[in-house]
Amino acid sequence: MTHKLKYAKTLWLLPFAAVTVQVKAHTVPQPRQITINGFTFTDFNGNNRLDVYEDYRLPLQQRINDLVSQMTDDEKAHFLCGTGMPGFDGITPVAGAVQGRVPGAAGTTYAIDRLGIPAIILADGPAGLRIQPKREGDTNTYYCTAFPVGTALASSWNTTLVTQVGMAMGNEVKEYGVDVLLAPALNIHRNPLCGRNFEYYSEDPVVSGKIAAAMVNGIQTNGVGTSIKHFAANNQETNRLSINEHISERAMREIYLRNFEIAVRESDPWTVMSSYNLVNGTYTSARKDLLTDILRTEWGYKGIVMTDWFGGYAGFESIAGGKASNVVAQENAGNDLLMPGMKEQVAALLQAMKNGSIKKEIIDQNVGRILELVLKSPTMQKYQYSNKPNLSGNAEISRAAAAEGMVLLKNAEGALPMAAKKKVALFGVTSYQFISGGTGSGDVNEAYTVSLPDALQLANFKADTKLTAKYIPFAAKAQADEIARREKEGGILGQPKRLPELNLTSADINDAALQNDYAVITIGRNSGEQHDRTVDNDFNLAADELKLINDVSVAFRAQKKKVVVLLNVGGVVETESWKAKADAILVAWQPGQEAGNAVADVLSGKVNPSGKLTMSFPVKYDDVPSAKNFPGTPKDNPKEVTYAEGIYVGYRYYNTFGVKTSYPFGYGASYTTFEYTAIKASAKTLTDNITIAVTVKNSGKTAGKEVVQLYVSAPGKSMHKPKQELKAFGKTKLLQPGETEVLTFTLSAKDIASFQDGKSAWVAEPGLYTVKAAASSQDVRKTTTFTVAKEIIAEKVHNAFDTDITIKELRP
Ligand code: BGC
Repeated sequence: MTHKLKYAKTLWLLPFAAVTVQVKAHTVPQPRQITINGFTFTDFNGNNRLDVYEDYRLPLQQRINDLVSQMTDDEKAHFLCGTGMPGFDGITPVAGAVQGRVPGAAGTTYAIDRLGIPAIILADGPAGLRIQPKREGDTNTYYCTAFPVGTALASSWNTTLVTQVGMAMGNEVKEYGVDVLLAPALNIHRNPLCGRNFEYYSEDPVVSGKIAAAMVNGIQTNGVGTSIKHFAANNQETNRLSINEHISERAMREIYLRNFEIAVRESDPWTVMSSYNLVNGTYTSARKDLLTDILRTEWGYKGIVMTDWFGGYAGFESIAGGKASNVVAQENAGNDLLMPGMKEQVAALLQAMKNGSIKKEIIDQNVGRILELVLKSPTMQKYQYSNKPNLSGNAEISRAAAAEGMVLLKNAEGALPMAAKKKVALFGVTSYQFISGGTGSGDVNEAYTVSLPDALQLANFKADTKLTAKYIPFAAKAQADEIARREKEGGILGQPKRLPELNLTSADINDAALQNDYAVITIGRNSGEQHDRTVDNDFNLAADELKLINDVSVAFRAQKKKVVVLLNVGGVVETESWKAKADAILVAWQPGQEAGNAVADVLSGKVNPSGKLTMSFPVKYDDVPSAKNFPGTPKDNPKEVTYAEGIYVGYRYYNTFGVKTSYPFGYGASYTTFEYTAIKASAKTLTDNITIAVTVKNSGKTAGKEVVQLYVSAPGKSMHKPKQELKAFGKTKLLQPGETEVLTFTLSAKDIASFQDGKSAWVAEPGLYTVKAAASSQDVRKTTTFTVAKEIIAEKVHNAFDTDITIKELRP
C-alpha cells in the first residue's frame, strides 16, 4: 500500500502537457477511472487496478525506477533469475514458474503479480521456433516452420532474404505467445568439427555479423525480441561448460567479437546470451570487459545479457551442490539474467545483497534492464496471440531461402539442370531420410519434411521404383534405430550418427545405370549440441559411402550418364578424394522442412543456384589451422584450448599461407556466368569513407544472381595482416542474360583497420590498399587501389582479455 501511495504522489506531480503527449504516442486498451487511497487514476487496461507499468503516460525510465523502488530484496533476487526448467533433475524450479503457458519453451522470467509484472517467455532457436507441437487434452497442434539452418541461410549471402526469413520466424514467435526467440546464433566456424556450426553462419565475421543483423531486424519487426548468442567464442561443444580458451585480444576483437559488434551496431537485439566457455581463465558470463566495457560502453548496447542455460558453472554437480558463488561475478560483470534460474542462485544473490558483495546500484541497474525488456514484451502489452501463425506462407519463404542457400560446387559440362521427365536413380540412405535440421536446441518441431522422392515426382522427374522399393524400408529402419539409440544415449542432447548405407549389388547398380538418365547420391550428416563431430565417418566419408560413390560413378559413366552428389550436411565434409567421380555436386545443407522441394527447384533449374560457401572446404582435416588445437588438452577430456592460429581462421589462413583448399571460401557455381566489367573507387585516398562501385553483367544464357565479395589487402607493415580480408559483400537482383547491375560498397577507416595491441586501438596504417572485387576468395575479377596518407586511429578501446598463459600465435 505504502508503495502504491508513493507512486501515486509521483504521478500527481506530472506536468499536464507531458501527459497529453504520452497518451497520444501509445495505443491503450479501454481506459477507465479508478480510485486508490483517495486518488483517482486512469486504469488503462481496464482491469480495475493500477499497474505501474501500464501507465503509458510515464516516461519508460520513470516507470522502471518506480517499479524497482517498490521491489523487495527477495523479489529482486528472484527477478534476476529465470523460473527454472521443468523436468530437470536435481534443480528445483523457483516460485512463479509459468512454463505451462507455452509448453516446450526454454524458460521464463519471474512474475511479480502484486506489481503487475508478468513473466515473459523465451524459446529457441536459430532455425525457427522450438515449442512442443502437441499439448495434453488439446486437439490443436502447435507446429512451427523449420527454416534452413544458419549455415544454409548465410550461404545465400542475401541479407534481404534473411530479413524476410526473420520476419516469418518472428510471426510464429508472436502468434504462439512467445516474447523472445533465442536466436540468431553467430559464433565463428573456427573448426569444421564444432557440433553446432550448422546453427552458426560463417568462418568470417563480416558475413556472420551482417547476416545476424539482417535476421534480428526481421524477427524484431514483429515486436518480439531476439537473443544473439553465444557471446562469445563458443566454438566447440566438447566440455563446453568448462573449457578454458586462451585467446589473444587481437583474435578476440577481429574474429570472435567483430561479428557480434556488427550485429549490435546494425540491429538492436533485445537480448544477448553470454556463452558457456571461459576466455583466458574467466567465464564469459563473468567478464566485465566483455559484457560492460566492450558490449555496452564501446558498442552502445542497451538491452540485457542473459546466461546460457546453467552457464557459469564447471558442471551440473556444482550447481546441485549449491556452489552458486559465480552469480556475484556475473551480476557485477553485467550479466543481468541468470537462466534458466535456480533456487541456489536466488539464495546466493540474497546473501550477496546482504553482505554487500554486490552493490545495490548494480542490482537495481540489472533489475531495471530486465524490467525494460519485460515492459516492451508482447505479454506485457497483453497481446492476444492467435496460435495461428502463417504456416503456409512461411513454408514458401522457407523453401525459397533453402534453394537460395544451396551451393553448386561442381557442374562439369552442364550436367545440371536436369530436363523434365528425366529418369533418376536415387542412391544413398539419406535420399530417403532427408535431414531438415540439426539436433538439440537448434531443432524445430515441424509438421513435415518434404521427401526427396516425392519432390522429384512433383517436379516431373521419374524416380527408379526398383531402387526406391529397396531403399525405403531400409532407410526407415535405419532412421528408427538411430532415433532409439540417440534417445537412449542422451535424449534431445544425444549425439547424432550417420545412417549406414544399404549394401547394393553391382547388378542393382548396373541395372539402375541402364534404366536411368541420372544418378543422384545423397550423403547425409547430422550433429548438434553438446558433441563435436569426429574426423572419421563424419568429416571424412565412411568406407561404405565412398564405395557407393565409386560404384555408381563407374556404372553410370560407362553408360555416359551423369552422377550428381547431394550433400545434406550441416557443415564441412571432405570432398577432395571423391569429387572427380561426380559430375555435379550440390551442397543442399540442412534446408528445413521444404527440403525435397527446394532441392528439386535447383536440380530442375527452376531456381538457378546462387549460394556461395561461407567457409572453406579444406583438402584434408589436418590442413585446418586449428586442427592441432581442437578440442584442446588433455585430448581425452580437454580442460583448455589455445587459439594458436590467432586471426588466421579459415580463408585468412589458407590464402596467407598458400594452403590449397578443395573448395575455397566464397565459392559457388551457377547455371550462368557473370562478368565483372568495372570497378571504381570514389577517391584516391581514404580519410573517413570510400565508396567502391562494381559492375556485374550476366554474360550467360540463364537468369541468375551473383554474390560479389569485396576483399581488401592492407600494407601490413606495422601489423601482420592476412593476405586479404572480406570487408563487404552484396548480391545482385535476378539478372537476365545480358543485364548488368552496379553494386556499391562503403568502406570506413574502422573497416580496413586492425586491432593493435600496444595501442588498444583499431588502427588503419598508412600506405597502399588494394580492393578486390571477387567471385570467391580465390577468384579476383577486378581490382582498384586507394591510399591512407597517415595512420588513422579509427577507434580507441579498453584494454581487455589479459591472457592467463603466453600464447605463441601463428603469424606469416
Ligand atoms: C543452448 C542455447 C539455448 C538454451 C536454451 C542451451 O543449451 O546452448 O543455445 O538457447 O540451451 O534451450
